[in-house]
Amino acid sequence: MITGKTLLSVEQINKRVAELANNISSDYRGKEIVAVGILKGAFMFYADLIRALSVSVKVDFIVSSSYLKSSSTGDVKVHYDIKEDIAGKHILLIDDIADTGISLNHIRERVLSQSPESLKICVFLDKKERRLVDVPIDYVGFDIPNEFVVGYGLDYNSNFRNLPYIAVFKKEM
Ligand code: IMP
Ligand code: MG
Repeated sequence: MITGKTLLSVEQINKRVAELANNISSDYRGKEIVAVGILKGAFMFYADLIRALSVSVKVDFIVSSSYLKSSSTGDVKVHYDIKEDIAGKHILLIDDIADTGISLNHIRERVLSQSPESLKICVFLDKKERRLVDVPIDYVGFDIPNEFVVGYGLDYNSNFRNLPYIAVFKKEM
């Protein structure tokens, strides 16, 4: 067995990503976005989403990891940072999943300190039940229950990121 139960199919994902891209394109009509993907997890969602946008986009990335030491503190490390000068720009942060919210909140504050004109956050998945830090999220692909999921960029121990769908991770996988 390499996957658990499929939670979101390729068809569901494609349809929802197209809807999100339409919403984002109409909200930013006439503006240029700096789309900042948070790696590694967001790579697949990021690529699908930004190629469906109909506004000008500059691409950039942050590579980060978080080490959750207890249920309430996370040590977020940034291994690679945005290279564009983002002061005065419209920033769209794109992440795979909002779980505790600790990493997104950390990255949001880091980006805000560089004086962008605006900052919005788009996540593919939202596991609201797990939230520990209240971070404002502007675009959500899917709300999901409190289960560990893999695929479409998300991993378990660095595996399963290449699955084109979202599956619930099962230990026997
Ligand atoms: P945070 O807890 O919101 O800071 O989430 C940090 C990161 O943990 C996310 O960007 C994901 O990379 C990872 N993560 C959280 N939940 C899951 C999951 O269900 N599957 C795979 N990765 C997850
Ligand atoms: Mg991860």
